[in-house]
Amino acid sequence: MTKLLDVKNLSVSFGGLKAVNQFEIQIGSQELVGLIGPNGAGKTTVFNLLTGVYTPTEGSILLDGNSLIGKGSNKIVNMGVARTFQNIRLFKNLSVIDNVKIAFQSQMKYSALAAVLRLPSYWKEEKLFEEKALDLLKIFKLENFAYQKACNLPYGEQRKLEIARALATEPKLLLLDEPAAGMNPSETNELMETIRLVKEKFEIAILLIEHDMSLVMGICEKVAVLEYGSIIASGSPEQIQNDPRVIASYLGESD
Ligand SMILES: Nc1ncnc2c1ncn2[C@@H]1O[C@H](COP(=O)(O)OP(=O)(O)OP(=O)(O)O)[C@@H](O)[C@H]1O
Ligand SMILES: [Mg+2]
Repeated sequence: MTKLLDVKNLSVSFGGLKAVNQFEIQIGSQELVGLIGPNGAGKTTVFNLLTGVYTPTEGSILLDGNSLIGKGSNKIVNMGVARTFQNIRLFKNLSVIDNVKIAFQSQMKYSALAAVLRLPSYWKEEKLFEEKALDLLKIFKLENFAYQKACNLPYGEQRKLEIARALATEPKLLLLDEPAAGMNPSETNELMETIRLVKEKFEIAILLIEHDMSLVMGICEKVAVLEYGSIIASGSPEQIQNDPRVIASYLGESD
């Protein structure tokens, strides 16, 4: 069976540093996979390669059998890969709901003329996308903030808004870069539950970067461990927790 995402021998260097080195991963169409590893291991760089921000020096990236290499970031979004960023990137002066609606843009069908003249076709679609955006905000309990400026949201809610916006592009694969960063433990647990729910509801695959091991082990079906740009282990959470190399280099001695 072909995997949704099939990455092989992926490498990129910055100056003399091999930030990602012979990286590989396979993700099934509705799998929730964790990507863990110490600071500077290359996790975010992997996302930047998958989304066309960087071009790899070697390797292949196949989504549903189609290569993503050399495709621009917008094209890759249209092909079904959406992401959030380690450092939140929202349109801070736009409303919360407009941040989501912007992501629907490629799906909007009315003509520019219809928009300028505010023709019925424009209003009909506007209403539809307003409702779709509200539905996404509800998943993250953000609907009451819908008409506030994004910059006025608390930090944790801004992170959720980024996920809602990513979902608006109707991805097959969602890449989340430390979505729980800056959240307290109860917010984090709630977010992880929501991420699991999102995966089921939208029937998508998710690749989740996270530092907190216990958290990743709790929700992911598969975990891949990155060190110095290379995968040193991958498997079920249980396999990872018992992998001698992972224990030695990442988990430390357990007592
Ligand atoms: N554009 C760049 N130019 C030069 N070096 C870079 C660039 N992007 C990343 N690096 C380097 O590549 C390595 C991997 O960085 P990356 O941000 O992918 O790590 P990470 O695993 O996401 O770390 P963290 O857990 O801190 O977010 C680091 O040494 C980093 O300094
Ligand atoms: Mg990172």
